[in-house]
Amino acid sequence: MNDKKKEKITIKQLKDIKPLASELKRIYLEAYQDDYLYAYREPQRVKRYLKWLIKHADGGFWVAFVNDKPVGFIAIQPDCRFHGEIVPEIHELVVDPAYQGRGIGKLLIQKALDFLSEKGFDRVALWVGERNEDAKRFYEKLGFRVTDRQGAWLRMEKELQTSSEKRSSSLSRTAKASTTSESSMISSGV
Ligand SMILES: CC(C)(COP(=O)(O)OP(=O)(O)OC[C@H]1O[C@@H](n2cnc3c(N)ncnc32)[C@H](O)[C@@H]1OP(=O)(O)O)[C@@H](O)C(=O)NCCC(=O)NCCS
Repeated sequence: MNDKKKEKITIKQLKDIKPLASELKRIYLEAYQDDYLYAYREPQRVKRYLKWLIKHADGGFWVAFVNDKPVGFIAIQPDCRFHGEIVPEIHELVVDPAYQGRGIGKLLIQKALDFLSEKGFDRVALWVGERNEDAKRFYEKLGFRVTDRQGAWLRMEKELQTSSEKRSSSLSRTAKASTTSESSMISSGV
């Protein structure tokens, strides 16, 4: 039997980094194993980075699980400032290489965008390494566009649907998250 048929993908909000710190560190280091340009390589530095991410997330940190195994995460900062304006940023998004290409990155992004729309934000931004072609293509596919550059980093932004716009279009939306009939997705908080 195909194992993917039994997969259950769950996205959980994370409030405390400690219980999952080792797993998240592993996912980060594996996802960036070939990246010598933009990512931290030293485990202790990654641990400090994870603590920094959760400190600034203000509820915007989610972990994807396949069955009970953590396989990816996203961390945002809602109150980020750019040129004097508050524009939320996605600080990190990684998926375990063994689980990439199954829609998990997209589910994590969707979770973050929904969270920000509910809070009334109409835009989200991120910084991606100019040579991180895969991530750039991934973000472009999800509607992000390059809006600025600082050194080797490109700023990408995406307009968000406000909650009221969403409600009015929700009738025409079908269950998009289940494009993979083999997987099911449940959202919950911890
Ligand atoms: C970028 C990353 C998070 C994507 O996660 P993922 O779970 O593999 O992505 P998904 O399976 O959800 O893909 C979503 C869509 O993007 C597309 N996509 C994913 N990677 C792509 C690539 N390299 N080129 C073009 N399209 C890509 C998929 O085909 C899919 O399209 P669809 O909705 O039409 O089917 C993952 O590759 C990763 O962890 N990379 C290393 C860390 C990194 O660079 N993070 C970004 C830092 S800014």
